[in-house]
Amino acid sequence: MTDLLPDQLTKWQNVENIMKEQLLRANVREIRTPILEMTELFVRGIGEGTDVVNKEMYTFLDRGERSCTLRPEGTASVARAVINNGNLKGTQNKLWYMGPMFRYERPQAGRQRQFHQLGVEFIGYESPNSDIQIISLAWDILQKLEISQLNLEINSLGDSTDRENYKISFLSWLKDNFDNLDQDSRNRIDKNPLRILDTKNPNTQKLLKCAPKLNQFLSEKSLKRYSFIKEQLKVLKIPFIENLNLVRGLDYYSHTAFEFTSGALGSQATVCGGGRYDDLIDQMGGGKIPAIGFAIGLERLILIAGKVFEKTRDTDIYIINKGQLAESLAIELSRKLSKYDLIIELDLSGSSFSRQFKKANKCNAKSVIVIGDNEANKKEFLIKLFNNNNESNNELSISIEDNVKLEEWILKNLNLNISAQK
Ligand code: HAM
Repeated sequence: MTDLLPDQLTKWQNVENIMKEQLLRANVREIRTPILEMTELFVRGIGEGTDVVNKEMYTFLDRGERSCTLRPEGTASVARAVINNGNLKGTQNKLWYMGPMFRYERPQAGRQRQFHQLGVEFIGYESPNSDIQIISLAWDILQKLEISQLNLEINSLGDSTDRENYKISFLSWLKDNFDNLDQDSRNRIDKNPLRILDTKNPNTQKLLKCAPKLNQFLSEKSLKRYSFIKEQLKVLKIPFIENLNLVRGLDYYSHTAFEFTSGALGSQATVCGGGRYDDLIDQMGGGKIPAIGFAIGLERLILIAGKVFEKTRDTDIYIINKGQLAESLAIELSRKLSKYDLIIELDLSGSSFSRQFKKANKCNAKSVIVIGDNEANKKEFLIKLFNNNNESNNELSISIEDNVKLEEWILKNLNLNISAQK
């Protein structure tokens, strides 16, 4: 598990702000669920045969001997929250969440044991147009973040009857080809045979080319739904690749499944995964409520988001001060300035003026306020633009009481829209 340090977090915050803005515009509302849940939620929700439940959960007994798990994903928790809170008093809810998730996986580039997701869930939405809206929302967010080499892969997993029919035929084929399967795939036959389609083993991948295909078992209704979605994606000019082996790693999916990958990511290439889960809420006792969603892995996203999002905001005013009186005046002034959208650095080092000027220079401060004991005694300060051209630094002495003069100086010199700041 890793720390996220201030220098890294500039990009995180810029990226998060863009995503939140997009979600606000689409009228998707935030939900925050606990990081710790009862283990049963994930076992039932994600599925006993999945790697996440079998191998990757951080599970322990609490002091009341109840089995608890650090959430490995957000969908099951959101479904639980919707059920527990009376479907959030509406038949349809568009929700988003962001936060840490935990999976006990082998750490490597793009794969951590504590990682972060931004997830979006449309609960109570059945129409294929909601599939389109969810996919296009993910696409637009990733485009806005200037993700390069982005690919969208989609598939349809049909409904539960389609999959049961397919499983009969696929299991029979797996038995016939058992000797040629890799060990991992053999282990999956009883627990979760569909996941074999997702194998990374090249020999099994080759072998699977001759296996029966899930799309051959989709009912007419499922096929029609899937065709509509593909057509609409074309209309919206969202390019996609159909991947008939895309089954995703969690058991709750039905119909549409999709993943966004980026060639810029290396082996852990999936930056966003999602799909429809029409049976999950019913299985959890919440009644028939169809839903669809996705989650973006933030560590992977940050790796490939555009360089422009690394930009930090420079300091607007650096307050240089020396002497006890000057220091308390400087604190008073920094509080006064905090009502404006300005980055203020208050120097509390007590070091010489020249050292403080050097520090202001180092952090690219646009302007400085200087308060020495002389100024402090007169209850005033000096403000000026911080550059080497003395003629144009607009130096001015202002009384600490004179808010009007201070505001005028800020307005004139720091490109600030005052009316929006107060
Ligand atoms: P998921 O595919 O398991 O789906 O995870 C979504 C994304 O989280 C992945 O595409 C990846 O970017 C990131 N991720 C997963 N595991 C790790 C890890 N160990 N380290 C770093 N990043 C990781 C879900 O979690 C579903 N709940 C998505 C969803 C929402 N489906 C419907 N609604």
